[in-house]
Amino acid sequence: MAETITKAQTKTAGPLEGTSAHHGMVAPGEAAFAQEQLREAFGADEQNRREVAVQAKDFSVWYATNEAVKKVTLDFKERFVTAIIGPSGCGKSTLLRAINRMNDLIPGCHVTGELLVDSRNIYSPGIDVVALRRAVGMVFQQPNVFPKTIFDNVAYGPRLQGGLSRAALSDLVETSLRRAALWDEVKDRLRGSALSLSGGQQQRLCIARALAVGPEVVLMDEPASALDPQSTARIEALIDELRKEYTIIIVTHNMQQAARISDFTAFLYEGRLIEYGATKQVFTNPVQRQTEDYITGRFG
Ligand SMILES: Nc1ncnc2c1ncn2[C@@H]1O[C@H](COP(=O)(O)OP(=O)(O)OP(=O)(O)O)[C@@H](O)[C@H]1O
Ligand SMILES: [Mg+2]
Repeated sequence: MAETITKAQTKTAGPLEGTSAHHGMVAPGEAAFAQEQLREAFGADEQNRREVAVQAKDFSVWYATNEAVKKVTLDFKERFVTAIIGPSGCGKSTLLRAINRMNDLIPGCHVTGELLVDSRNIYSPGIDVVALRRAVGMVFQQPNVFPKTIFDNVAYGPRLQGGLSRAALSDLVETSLRRAALWDEVKDRLRGSALSLSGGQQQRLCIARALAVGPEVVLMDEPASALDPQSTARIEALIDELRKEYTIIIVTHNMQQAARISDFTAFLYEGRLIEYGATKQVFTNPVQRQTEDYITGRFG
């Protein structure tokens, strides 16, 4: 049965997987800060259970001589939703894209500092970028479905990886579509074109495609900003489900959305991390004046 395929079974071991020594990598001050936040927001049990999925340390991203992300140090906690907010041009997408090395494709773009996924610096030599992109999936603002069938869109990544029987592939497609809350709407038209789906359905299809390769982290860059309110609500409900199994890092311009769906919020301004904390705290009692001005709509 499709439902019995677990994430672990569908995952292929990559060089980024199988490590668990996260704690030694956290700077003492950082760890204390993050743990305090976790304790406050989620209780001691939860805090003990979670680890750091992605960690930026003095991490900068440069477009030639323009430092678009400036020495950001930040922990993204495993199986939490972290929202990245900030005014247009502050470096949100640049930071997000760096986490699965999408910026490799941009001439002149380079990074300094460290970015760790599963405790490995993903910019060190010898990192398998294909494996990285399996571990760290990405969903874009505009749903980028392939001009193929619904089934083939979801099966795309697993087929590249190979090794699945037809039945196992079908099960995986079903599981992924169920996880993306799309199955009921498409189960009778899997061989129909993905382009015939509505925008909101296409976005959920992209999420299903990202989930099909068994990622640990899912990056989302304004995934609902091109959608109507109903589709947006579905995506938000979906994120709420996915947080149980995946680490989600989401860029959004919608302050209400960030407040609704995220556990942690990072506020960027002109490439710098101005504030990071439990979402409740950032939105109700921000430490920095700039954060308050931004979330209350005084600028940006
Ligand atoms: N491919 C690129 N080449 C050169 N500069 C870039 C490139 N992409 C982004 N930048 C620059 O890097 C800075 C950060 O851009 P980025 O797209 O990360 O901002 P953002 O916070 O995602 O903004 P928005 O909210 O408008 O999407 C901007 O100054 C932008 O002009
Ligand atoms: Mg952007």
